Amino acid sequence: MNLYEFVSDEMMAKIQEIDDIKAVLSPDIKDSIALEVPKIRDFGDYSTNVAMLLARPLKKSPRDIAQMVSEKIMELPFVKSVNVAGPGFINIVLKDAFLITPEEFCQNHTSNNKQLMIDMDYGSYNIGKQLHIGHLRTTVVGDTFNRIARFLGHKTKSYNHMGDWGRPMGLIIAWILENGMPKNADDINTMYPASSARAKEDKSWLETAQKVTVELQNGNPEYNEIYNTFAPMSLQQISTVLQRLNILPFDENKGERLVAQYVPDVQKILDEKQLLIHDDGADIIPVKLDSDTAPMPPVLWRSSTGAQTYAAADLAAIYYRTTTDKPDDIIYFTDNRQKLHFTQIFRAANKAGMNSARLQHVGFGTITGPDGKPFKTRDGNVPQMDEMLDIVCDSVRKHAAESGKNLPDETIEMIALAALKFNDLMHDVKSDYIFDVDSVTQFEGRTGPYILYTAVRLNAVIKKAADLNLTPMATSVTLNAEERNLLLRMLDFRRVLENAFTRRATDLLANYTYDLAQDINTFYHNCPILRDDIDINIKQTRLHIVLVAQKTLNTAIDLMGLRVPNAM
Ligand code: ARG
Repeated sequence: MNLYEFVSDEMMAKIQEIDDIKAVLSPDIKDSIALEVPKIRDFGDYSTNVAMLLARPLKKSPRDIAQMVSEKIMELPFVKSVNVAGPGFINIVLKDAFLITPEEFCQNHTSNNKQLMIDMDYGSYNIGKQLHIGHLRTTVVGDTFNRIARFLGHKTKSYNHMGDWGRPMGLIIAWILENGMPKNADDINTMYPASSARAKEDKSWLETAQKVTVELQNGNPEYNEIYNTFAPMSLQQISTVLQRLNILPFDENKGERLVAQYVPDVQKILDEKQLLIHDDGADIIPVKLDSDTAPMPPVLWRSSTGAQTYAAADLAAIYYRTTTDKPDDIIYFTDNRQKLHFTQIFRAANKAGMNSARLQHVGFGTITGPDGKPFKTRDGNVPQMDEMLDIVCDSVRKHAAESGKNLPDETIEMIALAALKFNDLMHDVKSDYIFDVDSVTQFEGRTGPYILYTAVRLNAVIKKAADLNLTPMATSVTLNAEERNLLLRMLDFRRVLENAFTRRATDLLANYTYDLAQDINTFYHNCPILRDDIDINIKQTRLHIVLVAQKTLNTAIDLMGLRVPNAM
């Protein structure tokens, strides 16, 4: 339940009981009325600007309006007090009883959120290449966004739009024809770079690879047999790494190869609308607009070699997705460098009238080293994902040893996963960020290990209370500052998730989780729970708060795809 929405809806309903206000409340004004969560809560738990917005239409001073509105808001059963500050801000303090058992106040509330169908395109790995650091953000942000959307009640379908049908396949097959079959995925991973390096030097090798690509796409049985031998090996290797990253399985592993069957359908639409232009042996779709100030090259629909292009696969994928899923949204999570590609594709799809969904590209920045250049390992290579995780594990092991802990490998792995993913999630998706392994693996501060540590501590308290046969119960209803703060934070969870969802901003969830963990620890330090001298009612109430905290924190942790160890 979104308690913020509940409070906001109830407040609006009350305000509209004042006839003068109801008469002037245009949709515009309604939209501008905000219920804010102040950073410093000295004056209230929520505040609203409603009086200021109504001053002009009502021809009254904001303070007078605030006075009038306050009296109405005071009538709400969950409001403890209302005060007017400054030029007419209204600060609302919620009743302790509401904070502790909000369900009892909002049984009849129904949310007005619409359930959406969302297709998500992330991960989208390449056959013949191992996962590397460049895949981290698309994977982690995409997966978390998917989990958030589902948690909020939307329907999603996650697509792994595999790079599995283009020139890299031709390069690998050509290499295999000359050098023999790979024994395993590691063998395959060496083939693409070797073959592609050779193609850069040797034009005839490039032409061979191009020919093989086209023939593969046209069904050459020998090439397809080779493909069917090595592609599964590569896919298996990719899925092992995804398991290590604790990523939800993709709903569809449908990439360039499997959407190829829809290319003729799109071709037909493009022909009907006469959108294709022949250009130097290739087929292109112009998408430039008069208003463009930056260069806007045409979409390459079919290359002059006759091969299916990257763009064609994406248009075919849009065709497939819109006709089968009828999504409200299709969201792509890739590197910022693909911005132009998606702008072109979206324009082409809209021109062809083959799309009914909102199309959105969420581009993310680069992970850099302290020098601001793309992150490299010590030997100057782009780290593979496994290597990256191993580097983080080593650092976690080091920090654990420094504080005299000897943790099992399984625990180290969970902490490392949290360190890597949380750090990725807490940064604004669009920006670059510096990756510093030593700081992301600290057990204190804005880090994954700190989040896990807080969860482990809560679990321990709850277990101990169960051993003592204590029942959590909201019996004492006068709360102190730490209890109130923590409860208010938890009340805010749903609002934060809605914001993270609408703004495609997973960093809001990560940073909320950090604030929550801090509030939990402050509460824990200042409010003894199980100590003998604590009154039984307070004990039970605090235990109730701990339970809600555990549930909220664990939900946040699940949404980020982290795993919590039993002890650390
Ligand atoms: N496989 C591509 C790459 O590694 C990413 C694909 C992104 N998704 C898409 N629908 N084009 O660059």
